[in-house]
Amino acid sequence: MATYLITGGAGFIGSHLADRLLANGDQVRVLDDLSTGHRDNLSTEANLIVGSICDPNAIRDSMAGCDGVFHLAAVASVQKSIDCWAETHQVNSQGAVNVFEAAKNAGKIPVVFASSAAIYGDNAAIPLSETETPRPISFYGADKRANEVHAGLAASAYDMRFAGLRFFNVYGPRQDPSSPYSGVISIFVNLALANRQLQIFGTGEQTRDFVFVADVATALHRAMAYLHRTPKGCFITANVCRGQEVSILDLAREITRLAGNTDEPAFHDARPGDIMRSVGDPSRLHNDIGHRADISLEDGLRALLDWE
Ligand code: NAD
Ligand code: UD1
Repeated sequence: MATYLITGGAGFIGSHLADRLLANGDQVRVLDDLSTGHRDNLSTEANLIVGSICDPNAIRDSMAGCDGVFHLAAVASVQKSIDCWAETHQVNSQGAVNVFEAAKNAGKIPVVFASSAAIYGDNAAIPLSETETPRPISFYGADKRANEVHAGLAASAYDMRFAGLRFFNVYGPRQDPSSPYSGVISIFVNLALANRQLQIFGTGEQTRDFVFVADVATALHRAMAYLHRTPKGCFITANVCRGQEVSILDLAREITRLAGNTDEPAFHDARPGDIMRSVGDPSRLHNDIGHRADISLEDGLRALLDWE
């Protein structure tokens, strides 16, 4: 049995990871400022500390005695990184370095952190593998890429272990649909079930590689196991994706069909910093970390609609 800190553990992905670790018999601590996360997402078995990754003392205290840290706290919206540049940068960049340095001071414990497909930006070498050149086109993507660079340097400078998981577009229960900055599937499902019209930014021809949250929790868990069996001084990145390219227009049609709604969507200007094609190569996750994201979009959407 191990003790893990999850930053951002009261959020969508973090709370599923907390459930997974608790089911495995591990102890879970969560550091979360509840800016987008919710106390109700967490089991009472998890120890929630309300505080910010912008506060080094809060991180140090919550990490004391931990065997590893999952760093998921961030402003997760590309659009918000453009609307609130400096504020987002503080959390997504400085906050991450705060967590990495605290992990060094806590005995160089291993760190698995949430990177993103957004680091590939307008690199069009589809499907994107980890060896492709990062070319972020949003502040969010730039900060996630900077975290990878810091982690790679810290692995060798301090003999630490880091895994940066490049999540593609994650969806599933507990993804909060209530803000315009929320993930597209949560917004579309919420609107479709309320018989309201879906709104598409741009032509709807932009594509994403959707991955169900249970697969992401497994990938995080296995990445930590990978770091525990790997010598110090290691830094690995891995895509967390299925390798399936789906357009936003097709997604909208599938969700309205499953929800029994027949309305056509409305179209608006494209968002700045919006990637046109995003689909990843999942081989490294499978070969090195030992997980294949098998849950299909159709099965995942049905599970989400049943949960709603
Ligand atoms: P989320 O908004 O549900 O979770 C983020 C959590 O971080 C929330 O609980 C929030 O309250 C917390 N948080 C934010 N700022 C904080 C701060 N200063 N201090 C402490 N806690 C803070 O989003 P999510 O979708 O679960 O994203 C989790 C991670 O995965 C993020 O790092 C995000 O960038 C990354 N990611 C998400 C996706 C996706 O499709 N959802 C894809 C790629 C990467
Ligand atoms: C998402 C994640 C980001 C992650 C990235 C990895 C969220 C909020 N964002 O960003 O954390 O790093 O994937 O690939 O989880 N759209 C509409 N209508 C809507 C909402 C969105 O057309 O109502 C479009 C957007 O313009 C975009 C696509 O749907 O083209 C996906 O948008 P969104 O869910 O916000 O995700 P990303 O920007 O891809």
